Amino acid sequence: MAKIKTIGVLTSGGDAPGMNAAIRAVTRTAIFNNIKVIGIWHGYQGLIKGHFKPLKSFMVSDIIQKGGTILKTARSEEFKTLEGRRIAYQNLKKEGIDAVVVIGGDGTFKGARKFTEEFDIPFIGIPGTIDNDLYGTDYTIGYDTSLNTIVQAVDKIRDTASSHNRLFFIEVMGRDAGFLALRSGIACGAEAILIPESETDSKNLKAYLESGYKRKKASNIILVAEGDESGGAYAMAKKVKNDFKDYDIRVTVLGHIQRGGSPSAFDRVIASQLGVAAVEALLDDQQSIMVGMMNREIVHVPFNKTIKHQKDVDNKLLEILDFLNI
Ligand code: F6P
Repeated sequence: MAKIKTIGVLTSGGDAPGMNAAIRAVTRTAIFNNIKVIGIWHGYQGLIKGHFKPLKSFMVSDIIQKGGTILKTARSEEFKTLEGRRIAYQNLKKEGIDAVVVIGGDGTFKGARKFTEEFDIPFIGIPGTIDNDLYGTDYTIGYDTSLNTIVQAVDKIRDTASSHNRLFFIEVMGRDAGFLALRSGIACGAEAILIPESETDSKNLKAYLESGYKRKKASNIILVAEGDESGGAYAMAKKVKNDFKDYDIRVTVLGHIQRGGSPSAFDRVIASQLGVAAVEALLDDQQSIMVGMMNREIVHVPFNKTIKHQKDVDNKLLEILDFLNI
């Protein structure tokens, strides 16, 4: 492959805390290796519209601690069309961009895979999503911060739940995966979690709530993943309401608060490691891969693989959640 002189970097899909730390790492690693960096604003949509601006080292100062993404983000319908991708390719060529680093989730990688099948510009992906639902990496950038946000919020709800002896159904994000609900459920001592990866057994939930009621538990927190087949926290609360007239039930949907805020130290560090790894992968002539982190080691996972496979939840975590709440 010809020597890479200029790379583009963009963020796409839902923003995640730590994306800025990744942009900083990509920019500075490239500059360190005498590669020019062009920021692409508004994700794939910006690629089509030509929203380019060179990034200098000073432009990524003072962003490692900031949530969101300085490059902005978007979900682009146009990039899903061949015509859209052709315009993007022409823009990249015009700008002299030899390779692109994309930071995002599953949808971002699907776009990147499609593009690299059709055009001769290499793409490298960095996993950035609060959902942590990407196969081939233990963690995605933003997941840890989001977990901490959920835990802080649920702790607060626990205070009021205990004071009123209430049962709360709390809905957390995760799209069609339950990683956020499972791990935060353990961290908050949730009485139960409902996630898409394990069938919601409302009979079990009822039995559990009945026994909790008899034991006069001060409060009950049930975390419901937004993608759970129960239809979310409101639907679940409605389902059990009639059987539990003695329970004072409340519902909270945490919503986009889970996506914002200053990234945790963990997210800043993995974002930095993955940003460096992405540029190093390009220097090593890699393409169409995601750089991920498995057992604390950097790994290269072909887009094909991470897109095709589904990441499993840790069954051991599911088990311990159950027996720690008896
Ligand atoms: O993928 C990140 C995520 O926050 C999901 O957890 C959630 O389902 C989705 O994005 C929400 O997307 P939007 O902000 O476009 O409504």
